[in-house]
Amino acid sequence: MKIGFIGFGNMAQALARGLVRGGAVEAADIGACARDRAKLQRNTEPYGFRAFDTSAEVAAFADVVVIAVKPYQVEGVVTPIREALKTKTVVSVAAGVTFDDYERMLAPGTAHLSTCPNTPVAVCEGIVVFERRHSLTPEQQASLEELFSHVGLVLSVDTPLLGMAGTICGCSPAFVAMFIEALGDAAVKHGIPRADAYRMVSQMVVGTGKLQLETGEHPGAMKDAVCSPGGTTIVGVGELEQRGFRGAVIAAIDAIDVKMRKK
Ligand SMILES: NC(=O)c1ccc[n+]([C@@H]2O[C@H](COP(=O)([O-])OP(=O)(O)OC[C@H]3O[C@@H](n4cnc5c(N)ncnc54)[C@H](OP(=O)(O)O)[C@@H]3O)[C@@H](O)[C@H]2O)c1
Repeated sequence: MKIGFIGFGNMAQALARGLVRGGAVEAADIGACARDRAKLQRNTEPYGFRAFDTSAEVAAFADVVVIAVKPYQVEGVVTPIREALKTKTVVSVAAGVTFDDYERMLAPGTAHLSTCPNTPVAVCEGIVVFERRHSLTPEQQASLEELFSHVGLVLSVDTPLLGMAGTICGCSPAFVAMFIEALGDAAVKHGIPRADAYRMVSQMVVGTGKLQLETGEHPGAMKDAVCSPGGTTIVGVGELEQRGFRGAVIAAIDAIDVKMRKK
């Protein structure tokens, strides 16, 4: 299967690298176009991806065409090649551009799916949220689920929830990075070398997430499991509660939601 990216910025590169790293496709089966040819060359050549001059060339090369430009640029790149896209599977990663938008832009009968991935797909620990409404055949859907399963967890949500799923999966890596940095600072404050601190903390985050995914355990029960009566961890939990830790996280998501609704 050949994958073509129209737009090769942060998200497209993360997906392309993850797909190769995860063994889904060979590097030579990935091609891309972007506006700045020299930059595209720098982002493709070292990885063995193919660089194309135009979106029409990408469409001719690929079986699956990934639309990975900024949301406001989607219409401008899709409309000129809508005829060429008729026989392809079109996958969008553009935030907020959903089924109805593509039904309007693409030729009738074109197979398309809107998704929301996050950048940890680059290391095959990402999430790819599918819009439940799409125009794929069951075979095309199964094939895309298999493809993206190589870069992380694949799940589907109804259209009204795609934006919030994108916020939770796409914006929260910034919050988690801040948490890693803060815990790293605390570790350094107490004498642990910074490089060791970040490695410890990041692995702790990965391991805690993995434990929750594999056991399905309630996060509250996971917290209780490390808080022995009269112990040390519960003292830290008390401090975080007093400083509004959970309320701050929920308020951050609320603020993003308000901003997104204004767009
Ligand atoms: N980054 C994330 O974490 C994330 C998460 C979920 C979804 N997304 C979605 O992914 C999409 C891309 O985001 P990004 O962060 O990757 O943005 P980005 O780094 O700015 O990349 C945008 C790409 O589009 C290219 N482009 C612009 N106009 C073009 C045109 N007319 N023809 C071909 N290519 C064109 C740009 O090329 P030049 O650089 O040469 O101008 C660049 O390669 C967005 O719609 C965003 O909503 C991103």
